[in-house]
Order: sequence, then structure tokens, then C-alpha cells
Amino acid sequence: MISNILREARKYEEITGQLIPDTARPSFHLSSRVGWMNDPNGFSFYQGKYHLFYQYYPYESKWGPMHWGHAVSEDLLHWEYLPAAMAPDTLADKDGCFSGSAAALPDGRHLLMYTGVSAGSKRPDGTSDDAQTQCIAIGDGVDYEKYSGNPVLTGMDVPAGCSKADFRDPKLWRESDGTYRCVIGNRPADGSGQILYYSSKDGFHWIFESVLAENRNRFGLMWECPDFFELDGKHVLLTSPQDMLPSGFEYHNGNGTLCLIGDFDGKTFQEEYNQAIDYGIDFYATQTLLAPDGRRIMVAWMQNWDTLAIASLKVPWFGQMSVPRELSIRNGRLYQWPVRELDALRSGRVAYQSVDFEGELTLEGIKGRKVDVTITLRPGDEDNLYSKFAVWFGQDDTYHTAISFRPHESILKIDRKFSGSRRAIIHQRRCQVPPSGGNITFRMILDRFSVEVFVNHGEQTLSATMYTNPSADGFKFFAYGKVSMDIEKYDLDAERE
Ligand code: FRU
Repeated sequence: MISNILREARKYEEITGQLIPDTARPSFHLSSRVGWMNDPNGFSFYQGKYHLFYQYYPYESKWGPMHWGHAVSEDLLHWEYLPAAMAPDTLADKDGCFSGSAAALPDGRHLLMYTGVSAGSKRPDGTSDDAQTQCIAIGDGVDYEKYSGNPVLTGMDVPAGCSKADFRDPKLWRESDGTYRCVIGNRPADGSGQILYYSSKDGFHWIFESVLAENRNRFGLMWECPDFFELDGKHVLLTSPQDMLPSGFEYHNGNGTLCLIGDFDGKTFQEEYNQAIDYGIDFYATQTLLAPDGRRIMVAWMQNWDTLAIASLKVPWFGQMSVPRELSIRNGRLYQWPVRELDALRSGRVAYQSVDFEGELTLEGIKGRKVDVTITLRPGDEDNLYSKFAVWFGQDDTYHTAISFRPHESILKIDRKFSGSRRAIIHQRRCQVPPSGGNITFRMILDRFSVEVFVNHGEQTLSATMYTNPSADGFKFFAYGKVSMDIEKYDLDAERE
């Protein structure tokens, strides 16, 4: 049975979504069907397709009572919208169906686990006890029914003294023995964040196992959207901390992302390495899946809660996902690379080898807003290392977005001051890359309204949205000192077929 609230949302999105032309959205990044999108949810491979749900408020391009939007794809790049999967329509989730995840049940049904929010009544002093509980919905890949036993985890299931109001974003998975585990973000008495670990025999009945990891006020405060998995012989905990304090070149985004790499003894996680997941401006709330071929693939909301003021509320859609990224670990670092399926979208190769230049340069055939561009830099004069290289893209007489590299400082910077913003918010981010004597390679993926940069084979990434008209599609290069550059460009298009 579909509730009236969900039926209305489905009707609304079907009619208004059609009014948005394909050319007004990203080509191969999933964007909101209509209205607002935040976190990726329920990212899973189910019945032969990748399913990607998302935090969704169809009626306006701003955050509101959370629904779950839904799309499917065979290659993670061509997305087909399905009807919204859930709406806030039961007692446990009347104020929002917050983030969660998905797994297949042995009988073939699709299980969604999410946070139900229900606001407590307001006291005279304005405070209230909001409850965040974990709920289940079961479906066939299109229609989902909320479980009659909801909520399946409540404030009774958190350790003594921990928050019942900040208890959200369950990420579940199925173990090889058929039992289930999940990790959930929570706030302990110290006011920062922690990750709780639960188990279940059937996906419906859950028991508390342990506090998997504690923030102890080191990396921001509350830890949102956790994910936990084994990769290349290590265990990885991904989370999105709120209210981060910058530390050196790490963690500059206020609400940022954190990757902890370490070991797991079955109860607690022992961290060895920490890093930001992305060093750009717009990246939050990662979620991964294990693909049938064994790849660990991650997506994130390509947006940042702190820089939302850049966007106009008049736009018919707001919010897009990052390109899905294959993950690996090398030397204690998380590496990310666009899914290999992207290679099939490439056409129109233009390449130049060893372009030696100083000053300003444009290159015939290097342009576009849906492109895959790899740039390799070397010093053009071994005795006189260049001081700076910059590439402007999304460029016309008024606008440009820039990536610049200063080899003496080993700093790569993304700057979108001139990318159409009319707001005084942060528009640049710097990232320290390993010193390399002026040698660096980076791959840039542009898709109309975004750029994602993969540095040195994915050792670091920088993601940012862009808000200019895609007709601003020029590329310009600048070298202060002599640079030798290789460049390879492909057009990328998911709309050709
Ligand atoms: C992260 C988040 C989650 C929450 C959701 C609500 O961006 O705050 O913790 O479930 O968004 O939309």
C-alpha cells in the first residue's frame, strides 16, 4: 500500500521532472530528479542493476522533509529515474526518512535500512527530544513497504549516556555466513562522534555489539554517514564529520570527510592512518558498495553544507552525486579512480605530447564541459624549476574555474571564484601533494556543472561544482617559468545513444 504522501510525491516528480531538459543537468552524474538532493542512500547491486537512492525533497530546491529518491543504472553512468521509494509517512519517520543503506535478502527482496526522524513535542523553553531511530522497508526494487515492526533500533539500543537524538545513517551489509552487520553514527557524552556496531541474523532483529570507533573530539564533532569495509587487507572506516577544525592542509571544509585505515578485531577498529577523502570544495556523505566483480565503489554527495549559498533556489533541481569511484589502498592511503565504465563514454580524442611553453597558451581542440582531460607536467628547464602552472577551464570572457600547481611548495589549488558565484563564501581549497620536482599528473572529469580532479593516479582528489552556463567551455594554460606538458582530452557523453 502506497501512502498518499508518497503517491503525491511520485505524481509531482513525474510531471515536474519532465520539464527539466537533459541538457540542463549533468550528463552522467546522477542529479535530483526535481528539487533537492543530498546524501547517496541504499547504493547497492540488486537484481542485475545498480540502485542509487538519495535524500530527496522534490517540492523545492532546498532541504525539507526527507523522502528517498531512486534511480537505477547498468553501468553507474546512465541513470534511469524510478519513482520515489519512500516518503515520511509513518509514526517513526513522520519528520523525515534520513540516510541509510540497502542489502538483498535471501528470498530475493530488497531491504532498506534508514533513520526515521520523529520530532518530540516542544517544551515551553523551545527544547524538545527529537528521536532518531532505525527503520526497515522491504521492496522489489521499485515499491517498498515499511516494516510493521519499525523502529528496529531506538535510543534504548545505544550505550548509556549516549545521544538518542543523534543516532543515524545505518550502513548495513551481509556477511558471508548470511548474517548482517551495520554501523551507525552516534554522539557520546563528550559531544563528539562515535560509530556503533550492530548485528542481526535476519536483517530485521538487531543487537548492539560494540562501540566500533570513537572520535574523542579529534576529527570534528558528530560523525555522519559511516561506512565500514575490508579493502586490500586492511579495514576502512569512512565517515563525514560535522564541524571540523582545519589541521595543516587537511580538513578545511567545516563539514568534511574522513577516511581511517586500520585493523578490526571483530569488535573495535584500531586506526593507523587518517586522511580527508576529498580535498576539493564539494564532497560529503560517502557511501560504497561491493560490485559483483569485487570492486569497492564509492559515491558521495558532490556538495557541501557550508557552501550552499552559492546556488539559487530558483533552479529546478539541486544536488548531484560524484562520479562513482573505484577504491584501493596503497601505502596506507586511500586511492580513488573513476569507474572503468567511464572509458566507454569517451570519444573525440585530442592529444599533444611535450608541449614546451612559458606564458599563456590555448590548444586547438582542447575545450568542452563534458570532458575527460589528463595533464602531465614536467619542468621545461631542469635548472630553473617553473614557479607555477595553471589551467583555466569552463572559461569564457567572464568566467573560469582554475587548477593551479606550485611545484616549490607542492601545492595544488582549485579556485572557483570566477565560476559564477555572487556570494562571499569560500571558493578555493589547497591541497599538499608529495614533492615531485615539478612532475605531476592529474585527470579532470568535467560534466557540465562540476569538476573532479584525480591527482597522481588517484592518491588525492578534489571535487567542486560549477554554476556557469556550459557555453563557457574554453581551456587556457599558464606557465610561470618553462613547463613541458602532455595533454590528452576525450569528450564524455552519456546522451549519445
Ligand atoms: C548528512 C545528513 C545525514 C542525515 C541526512 C539528512 O548530510 O545530515 O546525517 O541522515 O543528511 O538529510
